[in-house]
Amino acid sequence: MCGIVGYIGAEEAAPILINGLRRLEYRGYDSAGIAIGGDNVTVIKEKGRIDNLQKSVDASCPSGHWGIGHTRWATHGIPDKCNAHPHTSQNGTVTLVHNGIIENYLEIKTDLTTLGYTFKSDTDTEVIAQLFDYLYDGDAVGTMIKVSNRLEGSYAAALLVKGHEDRIFAMKKDSPLIVGRGKGENYLASDIPALLPYTKDCYIVNDNEFIELSCDDIKVYSKTGAQKKAEIKKIELSIDSAEKGGYSYFMEKEIYEQPSAVKNTVSPLIRNGKINLPFQFPENFIKNLKRIYIVACGSAYHVGMTAKYIIEDMARIPVETDIASEFRYRNPIIGKGDLCIFISQSGETADTLASLREAKNRGVFTLSVVNVMFSTIARESDGVIYTNAGAEIAVATTKAFSAQLGVSYILAAYLAHEKGLLSDAQLEAFTREISELPEKIAASLKTDEITAKLAGHISRQEHIFFIGRGIDYPLCLEGSLKLKEISYIHCEGYGAGELKHGTISLIEDGTVVAAVATDDALLGKMISNIREVRSRGAYVLAVVKEGTEGIEDIADEVIYIPSASRYLTPSLTVVPLQLLAFHATVERGCDVDKPRNLAKSVTVE
Ligand code: F6R
Repeated sequence: MCGIVGYIGAEEAAPILINGLRRLEYRGYDSAGIAIGGDNVTVIKEKGRIDNLQKSVDASCPSGHWGIGHTRWATHGIPDKCNAHPHTSQNGTVTLVHNGIIENYLEIKTDLTTLGYTFKSDTDTEVIAQLFDYLYDGDAVGTMIKVSNRLEGSYAAALLVKGHEDRIFAMKKDSPLIVGRGKGENYLASDIPALLPYTKDCYIVNDNEFIELSCDDIKVYSKTGAQKKAEIKKIELSIDSAEKGGYSYFMEKEIYEQPSAVKNTVSPLIRNGKINLPFQFPENFIKNLKRIYIVACGSAYHVGMTAKYIIEDMARIPVETDIASEFRYRNPIIGKGDLCIFISQSGETADTLASLREAKNRGVFTLSVVNVMFSTIARESDGVIYTNAGAEIAVATTKAFSAQLGVSYILAAYLAHEKGLLSDAQLEAFTREISELPEKIAASLKTDEITAKLAGHISRQEHIFFIGRGIDYPLCLEGSLKLKEISYIHCEGYGAGELKHGTISLIEDGTVVAAVATDDALLGKMISNIREVRSRGAYVLAVVKEGTEGIEDIADEVIYIPSASRYLTPSLTVVPLQLLAFHATVERGCDVDKPRNLAKSVTVE
């Protein structure tokens, strides 16, 4: 959701900025622009794809060795050229790009209008530029600090300031920003993939820090104006993970990367048949633990729902699941002694982050399950488990989802063992099964063939229902979300027993119902549900484990997944659901990796 890049060094800035923006495309955007520094700043921006911007840049060939760039995902004002970033202040004092939302922008805009400022765009970003202009006293860092004192909301901003012709400035609060250190050159980005071709040495900017970049130096200032040391960290992420590597789509590549994503996630957490968590709970914490909350958004929330089934069943600890946008405002009854788990691929999701902060304020021990290293949620949690799934570029999550499931199994086993409900031998057997999961996921990828075959029929539907019971229910929600978000087919996921309480009236001749029935204990019930929809004309596509009998007589098509223990089956079930969504979307000619209106990292609420 919006992307920032910056470059200062000996090279021409424009190609580096455009390349960086392309690497941030996956975050979602609707316009893009760059500003190249010099005696006069050159701003080029266009509505739509980066290719449009590239054409304008090629036509005007702006030359300069430092500059900033941006991909905008509209929040204030329509997606057009005028609202695209960069924005320049009325007197040309500053040109800037911004991610985040300025909540009090209208109030500041009114004040500045009274002072004679006129605004060209509808954005909250232009307000930052004009405010900087108004407060500017020749000291760029000091002015950023004064500006930040007036702003409410979230921002990561990169600035070119008149009179400081060989510098890039930046400021940050509640929106990610990273400095990349090169040799005789430095970079700025809102997300790591933009930096990967150039450097792995990064400084992760903290909230309320102010940055001054030159070719040879990275200066970091606190809110008092005091200079701080920039602690450089090495990013452990390969450039390959941000490239398509022979696949036509990132989503396809990421679906196929799931065996290694899960292996890389669970292997470091298992040692000699025991669980090896990378953080410590406070003393006697698990013994006294009464309740767990799992908070997340979208697919990560579906992982949380799945984890609830497993943790409650294995460890007998009550688990409440919440979507983060509700949790943060619902005054939850939590306190010391509870455990709150936050699941997030990006580690920057605004609602999940706000929920984490809410929980921390109430003295709860917070644990996050995060994919992006050093992201805000990871840094602010008491404990963090990284899903080492690698960079996930496609907007629709797949491999991060599977890696998060892997962590859920580990946590459930750890808690059950700590509570004495799983013996050492049982733990060892369970961790062995978890370690074997990557091979089984690879076997589940063989459903590629049948899902590709079914895609034509699926792609012609207007409505599809996913039904399942028990642990299959959250998987139905995930299968439904995956298909609807990228193919734009209307889908709904239901607990199969719930259908007859209203929704079954929508089933008519030919309506596609995907019935997920992997739990032996609930198979009989699922068979009854399948008969119910079938007798109303539904076309049933069943997803079951190998060896399930009697299903071919009542379903129109059957997808078989490898069999595994009940707790681990979600990792195998999700694969054909992802593949079905992928193939149907390709069939419909929609943009698989960048579905309309969506952003990879939802940094605004
Ligand atoms: C769906 C999807 C989203 C994310 C959600 C949370 O395919 O990717 O539903 O799961 O936006 O994002 P993170 O995990 O980054 O907090």
